[in-house]
Amino acid sequence: MEISFLLNGETIHADAAPTRSLLDWLREERGLSGTKEGCNEGDCGACTVMVTAPGDAPRCLNACILFLPQLHGKAVRTVEGLTGPDGQLHPVQQAMIDQHGSQCGFCTPGIVVSLATAHTNRRTDFDDQLAGNLCRCTGYAPIVRAAESAAASAPPDWLAQAPDFSWTEIPSGGRAAGARGADSPPPPLSDNAAMPGSSDELAAWYAEHPDATLVAGATDVGLWVTKGLRELSPVAFLAGCADLKRIKTTDSEIRIGAMVTMADLLPVMAEHHPALAELLRRFASVQIRAAATLGGNIANGSPIGDTPPALIALGATLHLRKADTRRTLPLEDFFLAYGKQDREPGEFVEAIGIPRQPDALRCYKLSKRFDQDISAVCGCFNIRVEGQTVTEARIAFGGMAATPKRARTVEAALTGNPWTEETVTAALPAFAEDFAPISDMRASAGYRLRAAENMLRRCFADTAGTATNVLEVRP
Ligand SMILES: Cc1cc2nc3c(=O)[nH]c(=O)nc-3n(C[C@H](O)[C@H](O)[C@H](O)COP(=O)(O)OP(=O)(O)OC[C@H]3O[C@@H](n4cnc5c(N)ncnc54)[C@H](O)[C@@H]3O)c2cc1C
Ligand code: FES
Ligand code: FES
Repeated sequence: MEISFLLNGETIHADAAPTRSLLDWLREERGLSGTKEGCNEGDCGACTVMVTAPGDAPRCLNACILFLPQLHGKAVRTVEGLTGPDGQLHPVQQAMIDQHGSQCGFCTPGIVVSLATAHTNRRTDFDDQLAGNLCRCTGYAPIVRAAESAAASAPPDWLAQAPDFSWTEIPSGGRAAGARGADSPPPPLSDNAAMPGSSDELAAWYAEHPDATLVAGATDVGLWVTKGLRELSPVAFLAGCADLKRIKTTDSEIRIGAMVTMADLLPVMAEHHPALAELLRRFASVQIRAAATLGGNIANGSPIGDTPPALIALGATLHLRKADTRRTLPLEDFFLAYGKQDREPGEFVEAIGIPRQPDALRCYKLSKRFDQDISAVCGCFNIRVEGQTVTEARIAFGGMAATPKRARTVEAALTGNPWTEETVTAALPAFAEDFAPISDMRASAGYRLRAAENMLRRCFADTAGTATNVLEVRP
């Protein structure tokens, strides 16, 4: 597949195998070995690179699960591309030295790229910015001190003036994906690999290649290749479908395109449903959130995906499309059984619609680690109380069944009753009627059931104004 992108300011035209990872290509073809391979599955951040799409802020991504075609029309900066023309260190690199932020050094290039991206974007929430960078030996105190001390310096001129941050078109080649004109076509669609430029193009190509694998952010699909060693063909990259990246808010609905990333969804949800925004802050890491899409989180059908329980609690609808035929269904009806969704061959997720409503959402994610971890149990509660009475309850869980699932018996036990501790206590046995969870490496069945019950109790305490923030340690 022929693609064009900028690498540390240099124009690259490459003929890439569709599922070759950026990490392998950087190290094997370009000798850029500063980008490290740790886990090869998006967990450790040793392979972090800075990627800028035209008109967007730089983002951190994991090169190990980033396929080369996903970079078409974008700019990549590796750790080698952070220093100045005369070898001057980036302020973050100097601060890492001054604050003793590196011991064995294996994680250091990834940490430096993450911090340089945060520095460029003037972000100072360093705990969040570093949640996707694992350091086993130095410890984070000196690294955070380095980040804090570098924050006082302006972004260096050589980066601020780099073509990555001002360009709209790749010199002497294809124009940026999503902003292309008729004069500068993207990689041509072929039978084994395609990068459609719109959802119409995708619909037509996918209808003719219904057995193809769709690649959105590749934070799931990437692992099928790096860990499952699967050969994927045919394959379609959705990164060029600019119309699937839009969020449109009307009086009745927030319509979110399937290709909207968790990073772009977070600020919109902060405005409308802050509990979902907080859930998204704990979705994996900065690197994964910059790639992972809402469409991918739903279409993968995982019983422990974070967004489906929240969206089901909000009464979201799913918009599916096959060729020119569109249909809409309640999101909860999409998940039929483990690994089985109501999606036909050649049909794809176009958008998700959340009905506008006064915010009452509460989301609780329980995982072994606070950051960068998949849920053991995720409970989302949308309970409407008028006067003192529960008038409507939509409660959905991940990690409690083979699919994301509503707690309908619990909902019925609450609805029509006063919103009191007695009602909540009386509703707790209903969890065992709604769910028969399994035991696995994340949690035992008994733990899951008890945790779900406690989440309802927490929801009540939360709405009653009791502090339930697990990040606060009180005597
Ligand atoms: C380190 C790490 C941490 C993670 N942490 C979390 C977490 O905290 N919470 C969580 O929920 N998940 C987590 N995940 C899983 C993953 O990030 C999410 O499921 C993500 O939303 C997938 O989106 P994607 O765009 O990367 O999908 P992809 O990997 O591109 O695709 C996933 C699946 O969806 C299909 N697909 C994608 N888009 C469409 C579409 N528009 N229509 C039809 N099918 C489509 C693909 O063909 C594939 O089957 C994590 C993954 C990693 C690697
Ligand atoms: S090598 Fe660990 S995240 Fe890429
Ligand atoms: S310095 Fe050794 S892993 Fe971070």
